[in-house]
Amino acid sequence: MNDAILVKKDLYYIGVSDSDIRVFDIIMKTANGTTYNSYLLKTSHGVVIFDTVKEEFSNSFFEKIESLCSYDEIKYIIMHHLEPDHSGALPELAKKAKNAKVIISPMAQPMLKSIAKTEDMEFETVWTNKKLSLGNKTITFLSTPNLHWPETMSSYLEEDKVLFSGDVFGSHYYDARVFDDLVGDFDYAFKYYYDHIMRPFKSDMIKALNLYKNYEIDTICNLHGPIIRNNPKKYIELYEKWSTKNEKLHGKKVVSIFYVTSYKNTKEMAYSIYDGVESDENLIANIYDLTALDEQNMLEILEESSGVMIGTPTINADAPKPVWELLSCMMLLEKKGKFGVSFGSYGWSGEAVDMISSRLKDLKFRVPMQPKKIKLIPTKEELFECYEFGVEFGEFINGKFTEITL
Ligand code: FEO
Repeated sequence: MNDAILVKKDLYYIGVSDSDIRVFDIIMKTANGTTYNSYLLKTSHGVVIFDTVKEEFSNSFFEKIESLCSYDEIKYIIMHHLEPDHSGALPELAKKAKNAKVIISPMAQPMLKSIAKTEDMEFETVWTNKKLSLGNKTITFLSTPNLHWPETMSSYLEEDKVLFSGDVFGSHYYDARVFDDLVGDFDYAFKYYYDHIMRPFKSDMIKALNLYKNYEIDTICNLHGPIIRNNPKKYIELYEKWSTKNEKLHGKKVVSIFYVTSYKNTKEMAYSIYDGVESDENLIANIYDLTALDEQNMLEILEESSGVMIGTPTINADAPKPVWELLSCMMLLEKKGKFGVSFGSYGWSGEAVDMISSRLKDLKFRVPMQPKKIKLIPTKEELFECYEFGVEFGEFINGKFTEITL
């Protein structure tokens, strides 16, 4: 893929391929490699570059630019996202294109200096409905923060109905044929990318999708994987479906109780807590033994839960691995507004329960109650306390109590 490729009249794809990459950002598998997409637009008032590429692919990127224009013709470099896979070639491009102004979102301003390693780069900040008129072409900017960094934004090329969406609608999927209607079936990569990059930001995604609805979209020029021109509606609707939150089951809020148990003591606590939560007719409690739960299932369950209760024994002054696995998969979820609490039986010191409570706070769960700890075998009275613990947690979820910061 060494030549610039025409996307629409005067709009060219000048991205690069990273076909051999097999793991992206430490956590994502990339069986088909990926691409770093960039675009060049010729207008009657000069050339615009949309995003750059990862630094190590700069040579190929600059060759494509040079095949289309001189650097002096470049008037604007629009950066929708400053992560290094898109800003790697920016410092060099800015040096070469001396007449160019960099366009960024306001949130990107403090990052630009660190990335550019210079104070000299001329830039301007833009937000929703700010326009750039370039004679025969008009670009409207759209604020779409947190997708998936705070500074991300999108833009819309009015005359050609092209949405430049940043990382949104991307896939880690390299195919030299570039366009969605020409490449192989990349649906798996599209969903996998959403799950790993966008899923924790569903609320912001819904806001962005509502903004995009104001525009007729013919083509989506994203930053990774196939350019979407055949059926953009399909991909927009998939994002809508995946981003719409459902934290109710049978019309009731869901509380999920996860536990691991060594001698059935934490399990007994879990079932008494379960009864306490279930006593509230507005809630539905579900209970899971973590040792038999796959990560994908954990994610689905966590996503639909308004409240999460985690029961753990303490083994060698720590919580066992399945508990940490549950907590680590939460990086792929939006936690905003969810309640969390921990409980467990212990023999000597019982640190695990406190560690989990503290981790829930770090993950930005609302943790309105102290953890519930019981030494060894719970008595009848202690099991009743667990029942009440479940009742009280349910009352926080139903808004009957005002939280205080613990
Ligand atoms: Fe493709 Fe968030 O960088």
